[in-house]
Amino acid sequence: MNWSTWIEIDLDALRHNFLQIRSRTAARICLVVKADAYGHGAPMVVAHLYKHGAQSFAVSDLEEATAIRSASQAPLLLLSPPLPDQASLVVKHRLMATVTSLPLVEALARHAWASRTRLQIHLKVDTGLGRLGVAPRDALSLALKIVSLRSLKLAGVFTHFSAGSNRRQTEKQLQELLNLKQAFTEAGLTGLTWHAANSAAFCQGPHTHLDMVRIGTMLYGQGECGRHMTLRDTWAFYARLIAVKQVQAGSRIGYGGTYRARRRMTVGVIPVGYSDGFHLEPLSTPAVQLRRAVSRLVGLGSCSAFADGSPLPVVGKVGMNLTCLDLSAVPEAEPGLVVRLAARRTTISRRIPKVYLEQGRVVAVWCGGQSIQPQAFDRLNCHSI
Ligand SMILES: Cc1ncc(COP(=O)(O)O)c(C=O)c1O
Repeated sequence: MNWSTWIEIDLDALRHNFLQIRSRTAARICLVVKADAYGHGAPMVVAHLYKHGAQSFAVSDLEEATAIRSASQAPLLLLSPPLPDQASLVVKHRLMATVTSLPLVEALARHAWASRTRLQIHLKVDTGLGRLGVAPRDALSLALKIVSLRSLKLAGVFTHFSAGSNRRQTEKQLQELLNLKQAFTEAGLTGLTWHAANSAAFCQGPHTHLDMVRIGTMLYGQGECGRHMTLRDTWAFYARLIAVKQVQAGSRIGYGGTYRARRRMTVGVIPVGYSDGFHLEPLSTPAVQLRRAVSRLVGLGSCSAFADGSPLPVVGKVGMNLTCLDLSAVPEAEPGLVVRLAARRTTISRRIPKVYLEQGRVVAVWCGGQSIQPQAFDRLNCHSI
């Protein structure tokens, strides 16, 4: 490939992860494809996994939903409640809306009635995250109001956990939801889909799975779920060196001269910077952050680039679209060498082309949110989309 930067998405790995998840639960699976499928390109991810048996998908909002509505016929859940003045679009695109307030319920009911449809909705309950959701004490009365409206169908009730690794907090929130389920059952509201588990909770055990699980992180090969689950990485970001040079001990590199070479060294330049969303990520555990801060202090740079697995620390500040790497690990490197970059997937610019691979073959290329012919690919075209 003669491109400067690109992202490779392994469709086989995505399918593998989906099948791994599916083999470990009896619950229905709703695949979370918000934030452009965590940076993988939602239209391709949805089309591919729908073809391989995915039953439903979830996105954040209307904009994300309309971008993938044509990619599958599967139910599509809006995780955040739309605004009441967006109700007509929810009905038009046959979306399953999350509701958390009476004005939204009424707006959806009006538009569904006018369109002679019965709209499925899910009620979100705040059991401890403190963000979106109706308070547990108000949930039953809102649910009873919903079931009294003929143009709406209360399909599910859900909550979202606030903790990743804090099992006790997850159990507490789960219990709150189960108490509510009991109250709903006593009030005659049965046959609803109850759901709560995201990836971390999924791994906490089947008792969190309820009727449906909402999975993002694990689908994309991230997170840990014990020894018995093998997930494959689905996403890889590459760039090619556009320049290689020798610098003398004492030379300063990058804006502000913050990096000073301690010895004669080989430095390479990649055509990627913060305008592409390259910020020395991922920032994961506090230990990683601490190590990175210490490295910066002692002038070692941070490792966000690799050539054949050898770390190539970033030296100096990441520029708008250029970044310098310490090539000590590959002293023979020349311009054109491919390096792999570690980066936060969800914040990488959509201008970077995404190359989809199936059994090692390129099956599609997307750029700036549009599909392009692989053979017609040209990075300048891509940037101008
Ligand atoms: C409401 C909701 N449910 C489920 C998920 C999926 O979470 P995870 O990526 O941890 O599987 C998300 C993602 O942020 C979410 O916002």
